[in-house]
Amino acid sequence: MALWSGRFSAGTQKDLAKLSESISFDRRLYACDIAGSKAHVTMLAARGIIPEKTAADICAELDEIQKKIEQGNFKFDIALEDIHMHIETALIEKLGAEGARVHSGRSRNDQVALDIRLYLRDAVDGIIAKIRAFQRSLVDKAAENPRAVMPGFTHLQHAQPILFAHHLLAYVEMLDRDAERLADCRRRINVMPLGSGALAGSTLPLDREMVTRLLGFERPTRNSMDAVADRDFAIELLSDLAIMAMHISRLSEDIILWCSQEFNFIELADEFCTGSSLMPQKKNPDAAELSRGKTARIYGDLVALLTLCKGLPLTYNRDLQEDKERLFDALDTVNLVLDVYTPMISGISVKKDRMLDAASDPGLMATDLAELLVKMNVPFRTAHHRVGELVKYCREKGLELDKLSLEQMREVIPEATEEFLTLFDPEKSVGAREIYGGTGYREVAGQIAFWQKKLQ
Ligand code: ARG
Repeated sequence: MALWSGRFSAGTQKDLAKLSESISFDRRLYACDIAGSKAHVTMLAARGIIPEKTAADICAELDEIQKKIEQGNFKFDIALEDIHMHIETALIEKLGAEGARVHSGRSRNDQVALDIRLYLRDAVDGIIAKIRAFQRSLVDKAAENPRAVMPGFTHLQHAQPILFAHHLLAYVEMLDRDAERLADCRRRINVMPLGSGALAGSTLPLDREMVTRLLGFERPTRNSMDAVADRDFAIELLSDLAIMAMHISRLSEDIILWCSQEFNFIELADEFCTGSSLMPQKKNPDAAELSRGKTARIYGDLVALLTLCKGLPLTYNRDLQEDKERLFDALDTVNLVLDVYTPMISGISVKKDRMLDAASDPGLMATDLAELLVKMNVPFRTAHHRVGELVKYCREKGLELDKLSLEQMREVIPEATEEFLTLFDPEKSVGAREIYGGTGYREVAGQIAFWQKKLQ
């Protein structure tokens, strides 16, 4: 018999039981549910709402239940719907009527809101730690290759020479904001809903501040209806995860390109690639491809949760039960991706010569030519136009920019000097960009040192 069966004269129809159950997925909340119940009964006893002895017995039995669940000796049954009913039923089986005091002043609506907040708080901490490790692997790879020069791209076309380390550190910055966003989201997760009851609070003299303190929350929620009805903190978390997944997906795309025969800039360790069942020569960057693919799934989870909530009148509606699978799916996916990514980055070998070779396309230095003209007091638009004409001149005559004589160059750029002929060195070009935030060697070394210190 369900714990709420008092006003019913028939049991739940068997297919409704299947539709209704959440125990198959919300059993993961068991430790949060137990921690919440222990804090709740401790407070109930402190307020004289239940006897001290009962609170102590309930806490001890909750520990036993936790042990049973962790040892795989706890029986789950969809007739008991969810994790909250399972634990309460087990408590009553053991302690009888005294066990039934646990739910005084509480509803499953504020209970589940509490459990999710406890669960997500830990999950966020775990993910932030993994982001830090991931950043460290990128910074280490940058530090191993402080002078590797490669072409930088815009529109996936050769743009200007850059340091490979600078490229990696761009992702370190993105991941840093991802971690900050999660830490910020955690502040909004970290409020305590218990005491909100089903929606309207309670007639019992509950001590919400005490429960807040016992469970390490920042403060109790201010509005009981808001507390049981909204899941914006969960949506916010999924948005943050979606943004992070987008960043990882872009890095994946870079890695996939760099591994291709056309680029051939890096090689991944064998453990992070797979072969083809047909083509014997293949070594595919599956870890990066799958991480890119998993991003779609996380977007799906976010959109599902947004859609789930958009039409719900206040306050709690059973639809909200659907939040958990989407949250768990996104968290599992992100954890899996981060677990694979950090060692995959460490295992990258960098083909510096190939990178430099690709960066030696003289077109990559065209901007340096234009900027030299600016230093000679030529207005930038004029300088840009002149160099553009020089590129056209080369194309028409079948010449290479870096093979022109000074005379040929002066046909198009009368201001040209010997110095112009020395600009076609990608390593020198990178070295000329020692501006704060730029790709110069000293600048990037400074950024590497900054991150090494910050991520220690
Ligand atoms: N399993 C439910 C959920 O996840 C718990 C809350 C149920 N509340 C209720 N009034 N039926 O949302």
